[in-house]
Amino acid sequence: MTGPGATSGFESGGFESGGFESGGFESGGFESGCFESGCFDRWGLEGWGFETRAIHAGQEPDRVTGAVLPPLSLATTYAQDAVGAHRGYEYSRSANPTRATLETALAALEGARRGLAFASGLGAEDAVLHLLRPGDHLLVPRDAYGGTYRLVDRVWGPLGVAHTPVDLADLDAVRAALRPSTRMVWAETPSNPLLNIVDIAALAEVVHGGVVHGQGALLVVDNTFATPYLQRPLALGADIVVHSTTKYLGGHSDVVGGFVATRDGARADEIAFFQNAIGAVPSPFDCYLVLRGAKTLAVRMDRHCGNAAAVADRLASHPAVGRVLYPGLATHPGHQVAARQMRGFGGMVSFVLRGGETAALEVARSTELFTLAESLGAVESLIEHPHRMTHSSVADSPLAVDPGLLRLSVGIETGADLLADLTQALDRVGGPR
Ligand SMILES: Cc1ncc(COP(=O)(O)O)c(C=O)c1O
Repeated sequence: MTGPGATSGFESGGFESGGFESGGFESGGFESGCFESGCFDRWGLEGWGFETRAIHAGQEPDRVTGAVLPPLSLATTYAQDAVGAHRGYEYSRSANPTRATLETALAALEGARRGLAFASGLGAEDAVLHLLRPGDHLLVPRDAYGGTYRLVDRVWGPLGVAHTPVDLADLDAVRAALRPSTRMVWAETPSNPLLNIVDIAALAEVVHGGVVHGQGALLVVDNTFATPYLQRPLALGADIVVHSTTKYLGGHSDVVGGFVATRDGARADEIAFFQNAIGAVPSPFDCYLVLRGAKTLAVRMDRHCGNAAAVADRLASHPAVGRVLYPGLATHPGHQVAARQMRGFGGMVSFVLRGGETAALEVARSTELFTLAESLGAVESLIEHPHRMTHSSVADSPLAVDPGLLRLSVGIETGADLLADLTQALDRVGGPR
């Protein structure tokens, strides 16, 4: 291990032991009595562990054939026994059996009453933002994913929904930014690309307490970076969880998708209305791919976390690197909160080059195993330059990112190979250690 902020190395196997509070991951916290599509509690899995739910929730063997996998249901329409008398499915935009299986499984992982799947993460976010009306106000993180900010700023802004970017780790700043018209607070933790951490439970108290104006708002948490394996925002007090399932839940860079989960049945109904009325639904095959990915989420995340911790240590000790942003480092300002509310620190690492943008571009060009590409959360390691790539849409906004910043999505390859690749790329701009 290296440096004062050193994390455990990947050799040690990461997160199986010590250092994290349990956070109620394996039991309790589930509501019951829901029998709609996308509800998991009818499967009687309340007491089962995360991995068991990932593999079995909503996925019992096919009643007709015994197939252990839920069938890929491609039909767009369903025979009705009489006018208005159908068997739960009418038309595939409204509901589809493969999508219902996915919604059930992911709801089980988030400890939600109901889940809803979408064609992309932004499609999911847009459905949630439809809960707002002209004249409403929302708080967004100062370092949100660029696409989220673009959606809020350039799509919803002109429609009359105002927003204020805030540092959500600063609860006084949150209190000061709340208005009587604030209906929603949007959080991302860890955030993209700065890996900032928000204390979800503390934020929920402020948001729901309506401390300033005496009226609560909804707390939405984008759980894409953490995944439900590492963090369960609903159990910590959030009202709604959103995901880009394109990332860790899918996990193999072969599907674009989104997901929304909540414990509030009435709110789920509202979002389900938007899901059907707007129509940003995923194809059955896309649902199948996310479902397959989610089954191995736990084992993949353990490896992502272990490799990322080792990468963060290596970066922290390299002279070309000015700053490493990884919540697993003891020096990270959100380290204590992350250790409390997460099972592990995740697979994303960002860092700032001492040589600024020129050095960042050179490193991004020089890695061999870390592929230069957008997106994140899949088995292969990726490197990207947020200022010119994922966050170029916010270049001239309050959310603009440092041009010297690089973001890594640390994959599940052999850890030593990843370290060697990064070291040779960094040595080009900072000399050997
Ligand atoms: C944190 C986060 N939320 C939402 C999204 C949007 O998801 P999608 O690309 O699936 O629309 C992304 C995409 O990168 C993201 O990183």
